[in-house]
Amino acid sequence: MKRFETGASDDGWYRRWFNRDYLKLYSHRDDEEAGIFLNFLIDRGYIKYAQKILDFPCGVGRHLQYLLSKNYNAYGMDLSTELLNEARKRTESESKESRLVRGDIRYPPFKTGFDIILNLFTSFGYFEDDDNRLVLNEIFRMLSPGGKFVLDFINIDFHLRNLIPEDDFIIEGAKVKINRKYNSESDRLMKKIEISREDDIRQYIESIKCLRRSDLMEMFKLAGFKVIDIIGSYDGSTFNEDSSRMILIGEKLCIA
Ligand SMILES: C[S@@+](CC[C@H](N)C(=O)[O-])C[C@H]1O[C@@H](n2cnc3c(N)ncnc32)[C@H](O)[C@@H]1O
Repeated sequence: MKRFETGASDDGWYRRWFNRDYLKLYSHRDDEEAGIFLNFLIDRGYIKYAQKILDFPCGVGRHLQYLLSKNYNAYGMDLSTELLNEARKRTESESKESRLVRGDIRYPPFKTGFDIILNLFTSFGYFEDDDNRLVLNEIFRMLSPGGKFVLDFINIDFHLRNLIPEDDFIIEGAKVKINRKYNSESDRLMKKIEISREDDIRQYIESIKCLRRSDLMEMFKLAGFKVIDIIGSYDGSTFNEDSSRMILIGEKLCIA
């Protein structure tokens, strides 16, 4: 697994990892967590009825399903066919109209006109810098003036301080081995995941650019966003150095 050693990033790791094995490993990231965060965004007035919302990328649609169940006008996009199939099953009873699109967050097939775009649960920083910026620019393009962008990223410094280099456990009879490390050369947080059941061994990589508060503030500014809030957890607590999440709310400035 040379990639893990070198910190090489954009070799398409995100195309391989987001499948059934990912879902098994992250099953604790569930609907309850999605509901808590969306209720916070609704209570604080960031999400309002009649607004056009894009969950970008939506994964299995846990946030999308919640929004549709409450009659919000929401859509989802993701690259993973396996996760989109799950999302389709979850959302088809909530809406007659198809709400899901397959696409790459760098090249979304949508025109402008969204009031709020959600990028949730560390779905950012997967690429090299130019492509990470491209994602942000595309989000800006798709928003209407005054529209909001919610970026839910990890608080990198907190995670690096608390990094657990190795983990071993069993899930549904499969052995899971996880190695985590910070690669200072590429400034990326790397995770190697091995899932084995007898002689069936599958290996995956996760590679996230270490974007800190100042990096994201600068990227938002360059894309044209004003940062109007920074939150540290899904229940809405204020961000500080011990927060596990770093959730930025950006507003697309209206040109006077
Ligand atoms: C950590 S998951 C989060 C999914 C969802 N937001 C949630 O909270 O459950 C990251 C998602 O990004 C999607 N993804 C990864 N690379 C992508 C790309 N280049 N374009 C679109 N989606 C991508 C994956 O398929 C996966 O569903």
